[in-house]
Amino acid sequence: MTLHPTDLDPALRIDAVLRRQRDRESSARTYARSFPVVPVRAHGMTIEGADGRHYLDCLSGAGTLALGHNHPVVIEAIRRTVDSGAPLHVLDLATPEKDAFTEALFATLPPAFADRARVHFCGPAGTDAVEAALKLMQTATGRRGLLAFTGAYHGMTTGALAVTGNVAVKEPVAGIAADVTRLPYPYSYRCPFGVGGEWGAELSAAYTERLLDDPSGGVVPPAAMILEAVQGEGGAVPAPDSWLRQMRRITAERGIPLIVDEVQTGVGRTGAFWAVEHSGVIPDAMVMSKAIGGSLPLAVVVYHEDYDGWRPGAHTGTFRGNTLAMAAGTATLRHVAREGLAERAATVGARMTARLDGLRGELPAIGDVRGRGLMIGVELVDPEGEPDSCGARPPAPRTAAGVRAACLDRGLIVELGGRHDSTVRLLPPLVITDEQAEAVLDRLADAIAEVTAPRLTGRRA
Ligand SMILES: Cc1ncc(COP(=O)(O)O)c(C=O)c1O
Repeated sequence: MTLHPTDLDPALRIDAVLRRQRDRESSARTYARSFPVVPVRAHGMTIEGADGRHYLDCLSGAGTLALGHNHPVVIEAIRRTVDSGAPLHVLDLATPEKDAFTEALFATLPPAFADRARVHFCGPAGTDAVEAALKLMQTATGRRGLLAFTGAYHGMTTGALAVTGNVAVKEPVAGIAADVTRLPYPYSYRCPFGVGGEWGAELSAAYTERLLDDPSGGVVPPAAMILEAVQGEGGAVPAPDSWLRQMRRITAERGIPLIVDEVQTGVGRTGAFWAVEHSGVIPDAMVMSKAIGGSLPLAVVVYHEDYDGWRPGAHTGTFRGNTLAMAAGTATLRHVAREGLAERAATVGARMTARLDGLRGELPAIGDVRGRGLMIGVELVDPEGEPDSCGARPPAPRTAAGVRAACLDRGLIVELGGRHDSTVRLLPPLVITDEQAEAVLDRLADAIAEVTAPRLTGRRA
């Protein structure tokens, strides 16, 4: 067994570390349940566990690590900042690091948006930037209500949770769903209208428009609509570009601000620097976190200056001036842009998606393969279950959990998402090599084959 240099004390042996953390951490801990790994080193796409095993990391900090672990440009930026003696924490004071980050960020934005945009630095989590965006629009419009979509994930604080779709996490929290109108997201495979494809997306747009215009539809004029261009935690579900343009038109015609949550889709992940760019939509606000901090915590909301009606301190917070995250983020944004990594994500992602799609014949548990760029979902189903009107078979959460574990056995970290946690989600870093992409697919295919083999021979998985 290979131990980390600091792991000389026998009390720190791997099983003891896992046991202590399991016993002391809250029952809400998540990833640590499915991945009993004690990471001690990481580089690029690879994590090394304290047991000496190497894992290909296709979770990438839930989409945070655009450049993988400990990328040299990120480490260099962090070292340089520390060595410079810059203050690491200065609330929201003006610093050279914040200035450089803001310049770098604005340079990546669609020019029509950047030209008249303001940025607000938030508490360092995506959920706080979502809160800020919702409050901003509520303040600017003087309205309360919000429009949000089925399958959406926006975070775990009160406002963000209210616009999130997942019922299980909302149910125990009293009064969370107030003032949110839930609209159907265009999820082709499990279409809310039972038709799928472009037609399902058109029905979603038509339903939204008619509902908002119906004087007896029950929806008072809302403060904002919030959406993801590709739903991440919702199972890597991309919305058609035409549907996004419809949402822009519908909201613009009715004076409803459009907030696009780019927390997971941003920084090249979907094959464009920002996912909205595929459709050409210019939102009123964009929420950003995860990759913008270059693996350190950072979150912002960027919005049209017309909405900047906040009073000083309207969305304050202690940790809104993380110097190291700004330096690491600047290095990451510049590197992704300079190296054309969004284009690379589009190319590798399309190749991976095509190969996964090709596996459906031999692996009937693969119900759907979808995504955009390096945000890929493989929805696992019960191949013997009755198909619905769109041909979708019942979700297979146990199979999916088995596949996740079988992947880990093969040195591959993948997480689940989507309805019933039945979708295997691939979020590799944008720097994934062709060989690593092949290795990911080989291991995943092998894991699915192993987990579903008993089912094919008549035994239940
Ligand atoms: C689209 C989206 N919005 C918001 C969040 C919340 O971000 P955080 O976990 O940093 O609070 C997430 C997290 O996965 C996300 O995917």
